[in-house]
Amino acid sequence: MENERKKRVLSMYQCTGTFTLGNYLGAIRNHVRLQDDYECVYALADLHAITVRQDPAELRKNTLASYAYLLAMGIDLEKTILFIQSHVPEHSQLAWVLNCYTQFGELSRMTQFKDKSQQHADNINAGLFTYPCLMAADILLYQADFVPVGADQKQHVELARDVAERFNGLYSPTFTVPEPMIPKHGARVMSLQDPTKKMSKSDENMNGTILMSDDPDAIMRKFKRAKTDSDSVVRYAEGKEGINNLMEIYSCVTGKTMEEIEREFEGKGYGEFKPAVAEAVIDELRPVQAEFARLMNDKAYLEQCFAENAPKAQYLAWKTLQKVMKKIGYILLK
Ligand code: TRP
Repeated sequence: MENERKKRVLSMYQCTGTFTLGNYLGAIRNHVRLQDDYECVYALADLHAITVRQDPAELRKNTLASYAYLLAMGIDLEKTILFIQSHVPEHSQLAWVLNCYTQFGELSRMTQFKDKSQQHADNINAGLFTYPCLMAADILLYQADFVPVGADQKQHVELARDVAERFNGLYSPTFTVPEPMIPKHGARVMSLQDPTKKMSKSDENMNGTILMSDDPDAIMRKFKRAKTDSDSVVRYAEGKEGINNLMEIYSCVTGKTMEEIEREFEGKGYGEFKPAVAEAVIDELRPVQAEFARLMNDKAYLEQCFAENAPKAQYLAWKTLQKVMKKIGYILLK
């Protein structure tokens, strides 16, 4: 086992400058753990970002902040490559190629395209439509074995697999066919105001969303106001979606099982449980927030990280792109 090459995991993140507690507990904390067992390549998807309009200054600021958050949450540059997508031009280059190996019909079936074209009806650009080809390029450039994704991105990974298999079949094996990786740990964190909806940073009602940047008072207030049922017993059960969600969060942060939580709060109502969940979350976020603040005060260090990580990623991406170009029949520069 020791001498075997570690399998490679690839993931990319939107660069909105902030993450939710849901992103953290449901995905990123898991990606941090994966660093011990896999060779991880992580990046900020700033090329994808412009499929919707971005203010230039905001995009710049948010990309920097997203990078700092990922480091603060535990992405370790001793183990992992963390880069910014636009620093590695091979992403755009391979995306063009894959556009020509993906069918209009396949892209038309993507549910995220359908949703987003409804949300941004005034700007249904071609990039929004071919977004999955860029995402396939992200994955295939690094010969990734696994892509940890939530339900909303699974269809895109399936498309990347189809395109990889198609290209490999037309020429010869070129791309590793990636598999979606569904996390073993990690909760699906729901909105505190509507526990049937995923916690989201684009929710109109921010009372339902805990941001990594929320201060202790905001976190306490949001948990105290969380929607729950009326029977006041801390028990994990059907019909108690609000409490189930709070129990998931508490379990995720403290490591306690549902039974342990039920025992801990036996005879105590939601009035005691909600602040306890808030306190646990506040304690969990405190060191992340402190490290984030420290990093944001050290822009020179962040810029050095960008500069060191881009070439590491580019080296891997370039090797794949060269193979692709050769197989297609392009004349390579000597
Ligand atoms: N589309 C992903 C999202 O919206 C981000 C992303 C871009 C991504 N490229 C990727 C995720 C490659 C995994 C692998 O969250």
